[in-house]
Amino acid sequence: MTYIASSLIAVLAAAGSTYAQLPEPYVNYPNGLSPVFDQGFFAGTASPTFSIQQWPSGTAPQSCVNELAWNGCISGRAVVYNVTYTDCPTPWVFCRCDNADLSINQMADFFGRMPVHLRSVVRHPMAVHQDGCSAYATTGSDDGDIVMQGNCNTESIWLHETGHQLDARGLGNGVGFSTSPAWINALYADSCAADDYGNTALWEEFAQMTVVAQSDTIYNVVPQQAIPGCFNNQLAALEGAFKASHLTYGGTCISRIPSSPSVTAVWKRGISRRGVQRVGPCKFKNITPPHKH
Ligand SMILES: *[C@@H]1O[C@H](CO)[C@@H](O)[C@H](O)[C@H]1NC(C)=O
Ligand SMILES: [Zn+2]
Repeated sequence: MTYIASSLIAVLAAAGSTYAQLPEPYVNYPNGLSPVFDQGFFAGTASPTFSIQQWPSGTAPQSCVNELAWNGCISGRAVVYNVTYTDCPTPWVFCRCDNADLSINQMADFFGRMPVHLRSVVRHPMAVHQDGCSAYATTGSDDGDIVMQGNCNTESIWLHETGHQLDARGLGNGVGFSTSPAWINALYADSCAADDYGNTALWEEFAQMTVVAQSDTIYNVVPQQAIPGCFNNQLAALEGAFKASHLTYGGTCISRIPSSPSVTAVWKRGISRRGVQRVGPCKFKNITPPHKH
């Protein structure tokens, strides 16, 4: 957050502006996004077929060692997997603590339901145990991971965290889109944020609008708005930058982030995480998993 905050101040100072774009006076989804969008994602998306290969114990990507240990996942409890989808020959390396609330099949399914170009902005998906659900994205110099803490079992949460990575690196220039003039001007022109959580920070609003934009890309409609059209400038800015390149289904992976280097896994509590910054923990209200029969 320090990194984000200082770069934000730099951007705003350069623009001769003040941090007045948020909070917006209204929110379009007072009950949060999950009750509105997750049923549609469940019905309207499907993961490509995937295969899972578990790594032998004792080796893991460095960033998995760091993040799992930081979450209190101690020696012997971490499991690493290659997940290979039919639309990309290079596997994603997933990491989870063996007591994580999400199974590797659930993780691979939630991740796989996103377009392959959107998946490509994520390096390692991870899951750990926690009561309830929060989640975060690693940014800063050693970035690209998303971490589910607890039973984060809806697509909107996966899209939100991936949205943080899209924000950080989707334009390929290392500058967060959510602190760019395109985003700030859109917020200034709009009268609402997506929901209360989006209304807390530029980048949280971007991540929530990634969920809205993904739904709009699939269904070509933005349902159940309290104030129809009140965030349309944000939607247009986000879709103008990323709809064709990242939110549209089809194709194959084109620019994958290399996996964090494999190291001998020594799982210690409170491990040093030099160079890593986090966006989050992101918290979501009214998480509403679609009914599965
Ligand atoms: C995981 O994928 C990498 C890269 O394709 C490969 O080198 C490695 O052998 C795979 N590991 C397992 C256990 O399948
Ligand atoms: Zn967030």
